[in-house]
Amino acid sequence: MSERKKSFLYVVVCAAGIADDVGKLINAAQERGWDVGVIATPQGLGFIDAQAVEAQTGYPIRSAWRSPGDPRSLPPPDAIAVAPATFNTINKWAAGISDTLAVGILCEAYGMGVPTAALPYLNAAQAAHPAYRQSLERLREMGVLIADYEPHQPKAGGGCDRFRWEQAVELLTPALRSGTERARNGRETPREV
Ligand SMILES: Cc1cc2nc3c(=O)[nH]c(=O)nc-3n(C[C@H](O)[C@H](O)[C@H](O)COP(=O)(O)O)c2cc1C
Repeated sequence: MSERKKSFLYVVVCAAGIADDVGKLINAAQERGWDVGVIATPQGLGFIDAQAVEAQTGYPIRSAWRSPGDPRSLPPPDAIAVAPATFNTINKWAAGISDTLAVGILCEAYGMGVPTAALPYLNAAQAAHPAYRQSLERLREMGVLIADYEPHQPKAGGGCDRFRWEQAVELLTPALRSGTERARNGRETPREV
């Protein structure tokens, strides 16, 4: 009897103050039996303890595109969680501006049918910008699962206590189950990074 392959989750980490707690999401996903690889935006890299994250996942963090001919260091994703998702990355992703590896992966994930969830973390002044509402609308139309974080007040120190990292796992669990069904029926495999 063949052993069942573990699901592989990409966690895309953006440059928000809360990013250093990403270990909580990695932990929640690993408890669910998933393997995890982290992709940080170039700015996001400065917000996390890269060594600790790599020790926890067992995979190198990816942030920049590899050079042609370099080996791919992560297996293909079964699902993607963007957490924390910044104002900047959400708007670029919705507009298709693929100027970081992280947003490039997100833009392609739609076409590849990879289940994706976003956990926005931003303040109310950022959320008031009309582009943000439109971006969320477009991402929802694309099938992205958006968590329900209520933006915190600007200059008030954020809302770390209200940010539910584990919501990414809750949102993606049903999609991963149906994804497994699709894979069995010969769905295209996304490429790894
Ligand atoms: C200390 C600090 C905290 C920040 N927190 C947030 C945040 O919570 N949400 C957000 O959207 N941007 C936040 N920013 C601004 C982003 O870091 C900035 O827009 C950056 O360009 C985002 O890059 P990325 O989306 O590629 O990760 C913060 C910046 C700093 C310096």
